Amino acid sequence: MGYVRVIIEALFGVFVVVLLMFGFVILFGAPYLPTLKKQTDDALDLLDLKPGQTLLELGSGDGRVMLAAAKRGLHVVGYELNPLLCIVSMFVTIRYRKQITVVWGDFWKKQWPAADGIFVFLLDKYMEKLNNKIIQEQKGKKVKLVSFAFTIKDKKPTKTKKGLYLYQY
Ligand SMILES: C[S@@+](CC[C@H](N)C(=O)[O-])C[C@H]1O[C@@H](n2cnc3c(N)ncnc32)[C@H](O)[C@@H]1O
Repeated sequence: MGYVRVIIEALFGVFVVVLLMFGFVILFGAPYLPTLKKQTDDALDLLDLKPGQTLLELGSGDGRVMLAAAKRGLHVVGYELNPLLCIVSMFVTIRYRKQITVVWGDFWKKQWPAADGIFVFLLDKYMEKLNNKIIQEQKGKKVKLVSFAFTIKDKKPTKTKKGLYLYQY
């Protein structure tokens, strides 16, 4: 009986920790919701980066977009706040570890490396802040942004495709 109770308490503890890891992220940005394969492929097509160029993924989730980008020969830096998703994405992308860097942390607070493209799947309320952060980080250097589902108010996308929006800076 004692063992059963210890196991139940341990499982409950694990459940609470996992719930907290996914829950606390909403204080800083979008909750975890993965992009499907079709949209991932379309987003990378829209970005149209060449092998050797660098993609930033802000909120890189379980690593699926980074993996697809690395398969196209891109270098990728992904920022992810949820430590569990960082571990999952490092594991999922292990074969491409020379091309992919996963950074655990809040992308709003980081200084971003130079990039040719950016991919995001955030929330509407963060899009203006994102626009300002890109302008601040890029310091006039060109970069392409693809946002899934959400647009930047007062900035016209250069192309759109089924819920994906391409912006040029
Ligand atoms: C909607 S999901 C998209 C995941 C992935 N980009 C994809 O398209 O499959 C948003 C992700 O951003 C992460 N996130 C939210 N705010 C963040 C922040 N400020 N810094 C780093 N990651 C963040 C969440 O943990 C979540 O994994």
